[in-house]
This record gives sequence, structure tokens and C-alpha cells, in this order.
Amino acid sequence: MDTFTPPKGMRDFYPEEYRAREALFSAWRATAAAFGFEMYDACVIESLELLERKAGEEISEQIYAFEDKSHNRLALRPELTPSLARMIIARQGGLTFPLKWSAVAQCFRYERMQRGRKREHYQWNLDIVGEESVMAEAEVIGAAVTALRRLGLSAQDFQVRVGSRALLSALLAQSGIAPEHYAACYLALDKRGKISDADVAALLRSEGLAEQAVQSVFTLIALTSIDQVAAHIADVHNPAATAALADLQTLFAHAEALGFLEFLSFDLAVIRGLGYYTGIVFEAFDTAGKFRAIFGGGRYDSLLSALGGQKMPCVGLGFGDVVVMELLADSNHAPQTSRQLDLAVGYMEAAAAPLALQIVAKMRAGGQSVDLALRPERAKKFFDRANKACATQAIYLGPDEVAKGEFTLKAMSGGTTRTATLDSL
Ligand code: HAM
Repeated sequence: MDTFTPPKGMRDFYPEEYRAREALFSAWRATAAAFGFEMYDACVIESLELLERKAGEEISEQIYAFEDKSHNRLALRPELTPSLARMIIARQGGLTFPLKWSAVAQCFRYERMQRGRKREHYQWNLDIVGEESVMAEAEVIGAAVTALRRLGLSAQDFQVRVGSRALLSALLAQSGIAPEHYAACYLALDKRGKISDADVAALLRSEGLAEQAVQSVFTLIALTSIDQVAAHIADVHNPAATAALADLQTLFAHAEALGFLEFLSFDLAVIRGLGYYTGIVFEAFDTAGKFRAIFGGGRYDSLLSALGGQKMPCVGLGFGDVVVMELLADSNHAPQTSRQLDLAVGYMEAAAAPLALQIVAKMRAGGQSVDLALRPERAKKFFDRANKACATQAIYLGPDEVAKGEFTLKAMSGGTTRTATLDSL
């Protein structure tokens, strides 16, 4: 070994990092519970067949795939959604729908290394399976927003941009744009504001769009509010667009009633990179625009049937640990985590060890977290250690204490003391 760092993009968690990670996971789990989601888990290694898709998605090219010794083609999961779908299909006849499931899943993607993206990350997943109504979108987005608020962030820090693939394709169809040009239009929408209009137009022409179609895309690009979209379709017969727009309006109304409207904004350009989304899609970003997406998700009503199950409506999201931690640190909301220990017990000489062991056994049996000195040590060294370990109380046994069977319980902050015996503890 000539290096002691993990493979590129993989992560070690030293205790202080582990504590911060646990603080985030607790916020996720507590929020999932508060919203009535059940926790589940799935295997980290999946069959490659389940994970592979032909849609030309970036994620398909990032899979860590391998063959096991029996020549099975396996992979480390890049996301949890296919595994969730597999689990649902396996018991589709026995489960009660709609169901609300949540998981914290370790995922692996062979990413180009950049800020906010690693090759290993933990992803909080929230999914509602078996519900057609947009109440499902409201609940998953509401839960993710609540978790971020719980971590100390506000609408000044992040926004959830909401779009709809169903609405966008209905609008593109209305503009007479052929489906083979949709991908180029998505790209143009995504580049809106990032490159000049002339460059956007050139991009569309190079993809084979006629001049009229290019103009139509610019008309769509200019629609930046739900009301503008409503006006755009007011005088035409476009039932698909009307239905998709009504869903968005309902979602925003639910968000208002649930108290998180200020976190939502409409953005027709939100498409998302995964092929399975069919309806409303959303992505959360920091308002300063410094980081990549905090979380993302949407409706995917055809994945179960595409994998061989019965067709069933689904809505869900994935929320990674990397960007949110960077954002929390950046906005002075990094979780404050110190070690937690109720009691440290130390002793001067080996002769005190039996009493120390009895004290420790009794306190641990009573549910306290107790650190026992592994060898005799001087008082100063013991109290320094107890301090570093953030012990609330400490007991140090010298020869007198052993002789009398009486010792001092010292509060580490404040220094107040109390005399105790093994029986009185
Ligand atoms: P995704 O947008 O690919 O969606 O990932 C969701 C979130 O996971 C991202 O917004 C980001 O927070 C985090 N993430 C993804 N890749 C990385 C990475 N390489 N490093 C750090 N964080 C990352 C999905 O995975 C969907 N399966 C989510 C979903 C669940 N849709 C429905 N249900």
C-alpha cells in the first residue's frame, strides 16, 4: 500500500464525521416517521439486468458492474428505485396500497468528480406507491422540505423547482414539434439563461428543428409561471396540457394548505435525467445557486409495468447526503455534534479495578453510557480524557476511596461533587 486514502470518490467516516452523518440520518428518519412513512431496506448489490435501461441516461453509464464467481452479472446500485419496484412487484398481490415507504440507501455511481458529487453517497428515499392523486406529490415534497427546515434551513436558503413532463410534452405537441426533437427542446429549456438566445437557437437548428419550431420553443421558454401557461393554452383544445396544468395547480394549492408554498416555484425547464418519470418532476436547489441539486424526484407511473409488474402509479424522491451537508456548512447550520457519554470511571492503581468494574456494571445496567479506564492512570490524565470524551460525570478511585468504599461523583461542567457508595448509586 502506498496510499492510505480511500479509492477516488469513496468515503471514510471518522467518528466526528460519522456523528454529523447520524444527525442528518436522524432528521431524515424522524421526518419520514412524522409523515407516516414506513422504513425499509434493500440489497446493495443488484442484478445488472434490473438496473440497466436503454434510455441513454447518464446513470446507466455510471454503474459499477461486475461478474461474481458464478458468472452472474451484478452491480452496486446507483439508485434505489429499481430495487423498490422489484420488491413491490414481488408482493404486489399481498401489499396494501397506497403505501408510503422510506429508506436511507448507500448508492454508487461512477461520477466525474465534482463538488457535491461523489462515487458513493447515501440517499434518503421517499416513495408513495399506488396513488394517482397529486396529494402524493404534495406529501413527498412536503416531507423533504420539512427535513430541511428541521436542519435549520428556510425559504431563503433553498427552493423546490417544480415542472411537469406531461405538461411539457403536451405543449411541444401543441407547437407541432415532432417527438424526435423533444430531447433537443429539453436541452434548450435547460440552457435557458445559461447561454445566449442566439446559441440556443443555433443548438435547436443543429438538431434539425425548422425555423417555425425554433420560434415555438422560444414561446415555451418564455412561459415562467403557471398563469402564463394557463393563458397559453386557454384558447386551444389540448386536454393533455389542461389535465397536467390542473395537477400542478392542485399541487401548489396543497402546498399552500400544508404550509410550504413559499418553498415552491414553477419551472417548465425541470426535466430530470432519469427516463422513468412521467408526470410532475421536481428538484431542490440552494437559492444562491452554488451547489448541485439537493433532492429530486417525480411521478413514475410506468416503471412497475415496464419491469413486468402490474401498472401502478408511483411518486418519489431521492435526497443525497453530500450537497445538503455542504449547504448546511456553508450557511452555518452544520449539525453540532459532540460525543455523548454519561459517565467516565478511572482509577489510580490496579487494586481499584474491582470496585471500578462493579460501579461500571451497575451504571451500565441502569442504562447509562459509561467509559471504563482500561488501565490505571493519574488523575490529571483521567480527567483530561473524561473531558475530551464529553462525559457528563466522572468517578476517579484512589486508595482512600477503595479503603472506605466511598467515592465522589463529579459533574464535569461546573465541577459540583456528590459522595456515593456502590449501594447508593
Ligand atoms: P437522482 O436525481 O439521480 O434521483 O438522485 C437524487 C439525489 O441523490 C440527488 O438530488 C442528489 O442529492 C443525490 N445524488 C445523486 N447522485 C449523487 C452522487 N454521485 N453524489 C452525491 N449525491 C448524489 C434518483 O436517484 C431517483 N431514484 C430518486 C427517486 C426516488 N425518484 C423516485 N423515487
